[in-house]
Amino acid sequence: MVSHKMISLLLVGLLFAANFNLSEAHIGVTYGTAGNNLPAPEEVVALLEEHKISRVRLLEPNKEFLTALKGKDIEVMLGMTNNVVNSFNGSQLETDKWVEEHVKAYVPDVKIKYIVVGNEVSRNNDLFNVSFSAELVVNQTLIALQDLGLKDIKVTISCDRSVLEQLDPNPVPSTADFWLFTGQFLDPILKILNETGAPFMTSVYPYYEHIKFPNEINSEFALLSSTCSGLTDGKYCYQNKFDVMLDAYYVTLEKRGYPNMEIIVSETGWPSDGGLDATLKNEKTYITNLLKHVRKGTGTPRRPSKPIQVYLNLLDENNRGSPEIEKHFGVFTSDGKIKFPVKF
Ligand SMILES: *[C@@H]1O[C@H](CO)[C@@H](O)[C@H](O)[C@H]1NC(C)=O
Ligand SMILES: *[C@@H]1O[C@H](CO)[C@@H](O)[C@H](O)[C@H]1NC(C)=O
Ligand SMILES: *[C@@H]1O[C@H](CO)[C@@H](O)[C@H](O)[C@H]1NC(C)=O
Ligand SMILES: *[C@@H]1O[C@H](CO)[C@@H](O)[C@H](O)[C@H]1NC(C)=O
Repeated sequence: MVSHKMISLLLVGLLFAANFNLSEAHIGVTYGTAGNNLPAPEEVVALLEEHKISRVRLLEPNKEFLTALKGKDIEVMLGMTNNVVNSFNGSQLETDKWVEEHVKAYVPDVKIKYIVVGNEVSRNNDLFNVSFSAELVVNQTLIALQDLGLKDIKVTISCDRSVLEQLDPNPVPSTADFWLFTGQFLDPILKILNETGAPFMTSVYPYYEHIKFPNEINSEFALLSSTCSGLTDGKYCYQNKFDVMLDAYYVTLEKRGYPNMEIIVSETGWPSDGGLDATLKNEKTYITNLLKHVRKGTGTPRRPSKPIQVYLNLLDENNRGSPEIEKHFGVFTSDGKIKFPVKF
């Protein structure tokens, strides 16, 4: 009797532990469609389900895909491209229409959790020079959501590495900050993110840093394969480039007054072909090591209590722009075959 009870308790405990781990590891995929040989949107939904992928980022609305997602337990991050933002020309009415057509039409059957305004913000983002501010579009999107009764959906932006002014080949996180220009652009938006409890998002690609500076950033450090410390920054010790890069953003946000802001890595990966050290073996090593790191739940040296949240590139896309490596970042081939075993 007693041992029966204990076994049941143990089982319940194990179940809880298993569930806890599953929900803790925040691993999603970015679904891009720049390819002429990709699976149909419905097939991509089936792929997500088959591989138990519970989070997807869409770079722009896709009617077939969103329709096929209805009723599925898959969380969506939906992008609003720069072209779309520009086409609004600062009009609340146009923003309302977009939210109505691409968000309201699918909620609550589709679990849309975030709207990402603009393409990835980079140093040369074409939203810098529009006659209205991106901040205005963020505000207007929030207003549209509020008016349509969708206020649980967070509005945010996504950046890339070039928004940070870091000239050293292997800079320590403590020196990180935005360029003057990107800071002026991002500061008012960060204020809104903070007020609305929305995360900051950025891509993190150790691969590109490695190929720019192969001597300073060796492949072990970039692939999270290093067993010894590669870089110290004050009392912090870094074993991999991914943590160095992510902590550079935490430091920057802290310098801007947001020490508690959440960060989501909206894109990461390693190419399997097309450039220096771009091999299937290295892609597998990077993804496997990264997901192991994410699953540990111990964050980065500067934010050990903040679990790392990542989105991997879903498919190889043959119409991505040059360089050639851009086409080979998927964890799946363009016809939807997983390249190596991945536990999502
Ligand atoms: C955009 O808005 C500005 C200011 O409201 C207006 O002058 C301009 O004509 C608009 N452009 C287009 C293409 O509608
Ligand atoms: C934005 O305007 C500045 C100043 O006029 C210019 O130097 C920069 O190249 C422009 N950027 C883009 C992306 O058009
Ligand atoms: C956006 O909204 C915030 C308040 O949430 C306000 O302080 C800011 O001025 C607004 N910006 C624009 C450009 O409308
Ligand atoms: C960020 O939000 C928190 C909580 O609402 C607030 O206390 C803090 O002042 C905000 N920080 C900035 C820099 O606006």
